[in-house]
Amino acid sequence: MRWKLQFVLIAIVIQIVRSQNDQDSEAEVETDFGSKTELAFFTKLYDSNLRKMVKIKNNSSDPCEDFYAHACGNFDRELEENPDDFLPPYLYNKQDRMDFFSSEVGNFETIVGKLISQLYEECRKRGEGNVFGGTSKTTQWERLLEEIPFLARHEQVLSSWPFLRHQWERRQLNGQLNWIVLSAQLAAHGLPTLLRIYFALDTIYVTPMEDLPCPSMEEFKSSLSDVLKGRHHQAAHIIAHEMRVLCRGMRGELPLARSLTRNGRTTTQRPSQEQLILDENTKDYFQLFFAELNFSKEQLEMARKFPLDVPKISQAWEALRQTEPRIVYNYVMWQAKEQLRYPDCYKISEEFERLLHSEYWQWHVLSPHLTRDVALAAYQLHTTRFQKIRRASLSRRDWYGHLWPASVEKKELQVARILQTHAQNYLNITELNENYGGLGFANNSFHGNLLLLRKAQLRHSFASPYVDEEDVNQPPYFLRHFLHFVLLSLHRPTYHYYATQGLELWRQSGLLLDTDGRYTAMDCLERQSLQHYDAELAPIYRPLGSEEVAETFHFYRSFQYSLRDYHFWLQGERFAFAETAVLQFFGLDPQKVLFYAVAQQLCNRQTEIFAAQLNRGYMNMPEFQEAFKCEAEKPMNPSSRCMINMCE
Ligand SMILES: *[C@@H]1O[C@H](CO)[C@@H](O)[C@H](O)[C@H]1NC(C)=O
Ligand SMILES: *[C@@H]1O[C@H](CO)[C@@H](O)[C@H](O)[C@H]1NC(C)=O
Ligand SMILES: *[C@@H]1O[C@H](CO)[C@@H](O)[C@H](O)[C@H]1NC(C)=O
Ligand SMILES: *[C@@H]1O[C@H](CO)[C@@H](O)[C@H](O)[C@H]1NC(C)=O
Ligand SMILES: *[C@@H]1O[C@H](CO)[C@@H](O)[C@H](O)[C@H]1NC(C)=O
Repeated sequence: MRWKLQFVLIAIVIQIVRSQNDQDSEAEVETDFGSKTELAFFTKLYDSNLRKMVKIKNNSSDPCEDFYAHACGNFDRELEENPDDFLPPYLYNKQDRMDFFSSEVGNFETIVGKLISQLYEECRKRGEGNVFGGTSKTTQWERLLEEIPFLARHEQVLSSWPFLRHQWERRQLNGQLNWIVLSAQLAAHGLPTLLRIYFALDTIYVTPMEDLPCPSMEEFKSSLSDVLKGRHHQAAHIIAHEMRVLCRGMRGELPLARSLTRNGRTTTQRPSQEQLILDENTKDYFQLFFAELNFSKEQLEMARKFPLDVPKISQAWEALRQTEPRIVYNYVMWQAKEQLRYPDCYKISEEFERLLHSEYWQWHVLSPHLTRDVALAAYQLHTTRFQKIRRASLSRRDWYGHLWPASVEKKELQVARILQTHAQNYLNITELNENYGGLGFANNSFHGNLLLLRKAQLRHSFASPYVDEEDVNQPPYFLRHFLHFVLLSLHRPTYHYYATQGLELWRQSGLLLDTDGRYTAMDCLERQSLQHYDAELAPIYRPLGSEEVAETFHFYRSFQYSLRDYHFWLQGERFAFAETAVLQFFGLDPQKVLFYAVAQQLCNRQTEIFAAQLNRGYMNMPEFQEAFKCEAEKPMNPSSRCMINMCE
């Protein structure tokens, strides 16, 4: 495999060596090893990462005493010295994805990518004054009324929202404003407030709002302070109180007034689990909701329908029935307003991840860095050992069977091809263009456009098989991992991959779970604690709970596998020379570096728990002793080690 990174790595070494001898020697490097900017880029990448790693560890403490304390020793000091640009290592990957997204979003080329791009730009520019004057500041509420068509229709009336009873009656709003209509419209635009309806291929799920927002009186009031400016403070109090009673009622925290059935008896009976009994309100709601989404009659009749947790839905809608329409209207609108605050524009890339990934998969913004084939080959190489073991331990039906007809199955595992097949389906650009083309985005209308895109996404989900991206046995998980891997490889040195994603791959897969091994480890670690623990002299041997043992055991095994992956990669790619030289420059070596990189992911996070997991895991690992060569009486070198016999 020939690809740029190989040259680049070697180039880094040469550059580092040269810059020691000769300050301005870059010109020659350029002619030999690709462009200067790229070189500078990768040099910077290794340089800043390693510098940070070296700074965070405390080089005057002994790694053989308490490795966690050693590796994280200067973490707090670093944080204090550079509070602004300091980022804990465990956030690196997310930060890298954010940086890449925000620097490339303007260059997106696909139709769906451009929608994301516009939305993100508008999100960033919210409230920066309008096109005509520039200086006139509109409030969030005013923008909502301008940008969302079904609110704009009532702009006049809604400018005095939220409503007290006397306003509602005086202006006879019952005829104009209807909470069922509002809530159904919002829900069809991906903003559920009273009921959650979602789809998978030809399937409709109806569930209660699991996290129905119900803040305290004070929080209600403060969230309304912008729209209630200038009104009597009692108005805020009354409205907040009304909404709070409603949401508590919907959650079943307050007793409901008993309702009479037709024959005069009170209903104490709960509706059955399976069947959703539709009252007039819910019927109206469904009708409006589906009309807004414009599904055909046949589609709706053919669809499988699953109401879930019916008693909770009935409870909530009974509370709605017993509440003044005005109050429900206020509450629905309040939820919409809160949800549409959208404080973090980066969330757009997460909410519409499928669209983003289809843009990435088309490779327009990635091609300046590396080709897709190279990236796929690299990913396959990085995960080779993992995939091999994984395939051996999964039955054909779980993993293979879903993807390949028997005739196409190959002896060796073709991760790249499986990903390609999956992406062609899941990120099918033709299909996405059909579903998201011609949405009619308006200019300078973040909220309106956000709702349009959500609505299209909701509609699309009805025509799209359900995909669980967290399921570690399915290709979607690997597709996402692959894209994250690509971005990571543009921002971080290789060992960082094995210290984060590579390690997680093993941990989450469950491939290394082993009950016998865990029980053996439990016995052994307990004995180790009994033998060595001393609160003063050897605190790192503190006794562990059974959960902690399980975690330590799992950590130990995952780390070990990831470390071997890293060494496998070094050998396989003949990168060892380059990586070794770079690391040596910083006083590290490929034996040691992963121990630090992993440890530093855990700095300052639940120290009590992670320190134990890390130290007890490392001290029992032969690879650790090989790398750090601790003397016999050091705490990190126990006389007898646990967990070494159970691992193959
Ligand atoms: C420890 O690090 C400091 C800078 O952070 C350096 O000046 C010093 O020489 C290092 N000490 C050892 C023993 O490496
Ligand atoms: C670094 O380690 C030395 C020796 O163990 C210790 O005295 C010092 O306090 C440590 N520094 C920090 C910042 O923890
Ligand atoms: C609704 O769907 C029908 C066909 O299913 C289509 O003819 C019509 O244009 C759609 N209406 C809107 C407003 O999208
Ligand atoms: C992509 O979608 C189009 C339109 O829905 C369909 O005709 C085509 O077969 C799909 N391609 C793949 C590879 O699934
Ligand atoms: C939005 O603005 C662009 C130029 O900034 C213009 O080309 C486009 O026609 C506008 N679209 C609409 C729907 O007004």
